[in-house]
Amino acid sequence: MNSLYKEIESIRGRFAADLESVSPGQESEILRHRYLGRKGALNALFKKMAALSVDEKKEAGAAINELKNELSLQLEEKNASSIRQVKNREKSDFTLPGYPFPMGTLHPITTAVSEILGIFSRLGFDVATGYEVETDWYNFGSLNFPENHPARDMQDTFYTESGHLLRTHTSPVQTRYMTSHQPPVRIVAPGRVFRNEAVSARSYCVFHQIEGLYVDKKVTFRDLKGTLDLFGRMYFGKSAKIRFRTSFFPFTEPSAEVDVSCFLCQGKGCRVCKQTGWLEILGCGMVDPNVFTSVGYNPESVTGYAFGMGIERMVMQKFGIHDIRLFYENDKAFLSQFY
Ligand code: DAH
Repeated sequence: MNSLYKEIESIRGRFAADLESVSPGQESEILRHRYLGRKGALNALFKKMAALSVDEKKEAGAAINELKNELSLQLEEKNASSIRQVKNREKSDFTLPGYPFPMGTLHPITTAVSEILGIFSRLGFDVATGYEVETDWYNFGSLNFPENHPARDMQDTFYTESGHLLRTHTSPVQTRYMTSHQPPVRIVAPGRVFRNEAVSARSYCVFHQIEGLYVDKKVTFRDLKGTLDLFGRMYFGKSAKIRFRTSFFPFTEPSAEVDVSCFLCQGKGCRVCKQTGWLEILGCGMVDPNVFTSVGYNPESVTGYAFGMGIERMVMQKFGIHDIRLFYENDKAFLSQFY
């Protein structure tokens, strides 16, 4: 009987030491097995009771049961304290800043293109696209460029080894579209264009344009003026004015360049407009009859207007950006300023 009590004490001691050294969870479950399991230390004690008298059995049984309750309570406490620790750690400091969840922003060029396309689609224009790698015919020939035009020079145009070229403007979308569609035609065509120019703060080897084309019976220069005037006010603001200056393009006759009154100084003259009060935004004109002929339209029965605008320049003016290269450097500090 005495030896049984000794054993109870020694188990209590061993368990306390073991419990100290295990971590909560899996390791403490191993302890539970070792002491309280079917083949554990306590069951072994119960078995030893067989040799005792009825009274002794009662007493020893109560002592072992007490030990059993004690050990399982300690095990539970061990596991519960570890859960408390984790929970406390999670709750600890509500004043910490949240985890950052970085959201991308749209590239300012993307935003401008979709705004401009939105305006023209409300005016009834469809969106058309062409190819960045073009043939000489669509980029130049079909657009009435003479054989010896300087734009055809290697200095200005990127040619591929296969004899194709990277389009230097979005105007070939006009002739591609007309070749496969009959009038009336009313499209805008956004896209990248490429020029073999020295890279500087003002010019880059790639940039974006939006081309416009409207062909129908009796389209006049007045329609062109009205449309661009409306566009100017919709994109640059209600008080924006536009003006036309005569110009020359091989594919339009007559041709014009269009300025919009400076949105910053409202035409009074400032840094952005170089004190002129005006910003140049696009080239335009009435489609040259030779262009109609080259796509198989009859220049006697249709007329049309076309325009082409450079996006980078407009965005630079709008946001006061002084270097066109910033659009192409993927600098997050620059790009995250736009949304
Ligand atoms: N393609 C011309 C350029 O890149 C811009 C342009 C001018 C387009 C007049 C047109 C236009 O459609 O009618 O400089």
